Amino acid sequence: MPERGKGAWLAQYGLTPSDLAGFTVVVAAYKGGVGKTFLAYEMAYLLGAVLLDLDWDKGNASGAWGYREEQRVNRPLLDALETGRVPRPLAGGPWRPDLVPCAKEFGHNQPSAERMTKTIERWTAQWGQELQCPVVIDTHPGGTPSTFAAVAAGNLVLTPAVLRERDMAATEDMLEELKSYPLLIVPNMVPLSPPERYITRLEHAAGRAQAPIGPEISEYKWLGGRTRRMAVTATDPVPKRASSLVSELHKLGETVVGYARAA
Ligand SMILES: Nc1ncnc2c1ncn2[C@@H]1O[C@H](COP(=O)(O)OP(=O)(O)OP(=O)(O)O)[C@@H](O)[C@H]1O
Ligand SMILES: [Mg+2]
Repeated sequence: MPERGKGAWLAQYGLTPSDLAGFTVVVAAYKGGVGKTFLAYEMAYLLGAVLLDLDWDKGNASGAWGYREEQRVNRPLLDALETGRVPRPLAGGPWRPDLVPCAKEFGHNQPSAERMTKTIERWTAQWGQELQCPVVIDTHPGGTPSTFAAVAAGNLVLTPAVLRERDMAATEDMLEELKSYPLLIVPNMVPLSPPERYITRLEHAAGRAQAPIGPEISEYKWLGGRTRRMAVTATDPVPKRASSLVSELHKLGETVVGYARAA
């Protein structure tokens, strides 16, 4: 295990990605723009996981990674679904996760949720065996078969929750509908002094769903303008403005590792 690079962060817990092989973390939310892709990318990097991108829209993890579909001949996700083979992730090198990119056409070419759940389970099991690593899945905003499939196939479902009126209702709906799954709520983009009424609402919704609330990630306005492909947690040295973000992401990663070890 290299001292730096993806998955190296696990070494402080005496772990390597192979100790988490097959463990599947899904990042899902009903609402768009709440930080799913950002959290999926960073968690995949920290865990040394394969990042499976199931979001076909612009601004997806594949785009952040630097994947340009129009420059490629193969469409790993669609080809795998057509042939029944297990997709081989693209190597991300030391500073980006390995990636199974999404294709624009996936939106119109999704299997049913039931079939996709079985497919994802087959893939994650095979990656666990062959590549000896965990899997992180980024999803399209809720209500689409592939998102429900990923949620059903996940060992842990991270649900970013933004404490804003329009996001709150979506979080409440999701917690109610998906409460039978292993959800972990991750308050994201938390302002310095979040309105108390939203915290109370989130706690109530979490309580009703018996879903734990995990470590929160504060709001970092500069993140929106970031164009680098490298994971924030891969930067070395960590720029001053990113240091508290990196430590918050490490805390979240530590919580995820706790679930993976218990599994
Ligand atoms: N904690 C944060 N503070 C500030 N900005 C953030 C934070 N987390 C994510 N962002 C930014 O918010 C924007 C939306 O994030 P992201 O693309 O990850 O959301 P998403 O839920 O995947 O959206 P979509 O539903 O469109 O896929 C991005 O510009 C991202 O960098
Ligand atoms: Mg996204």
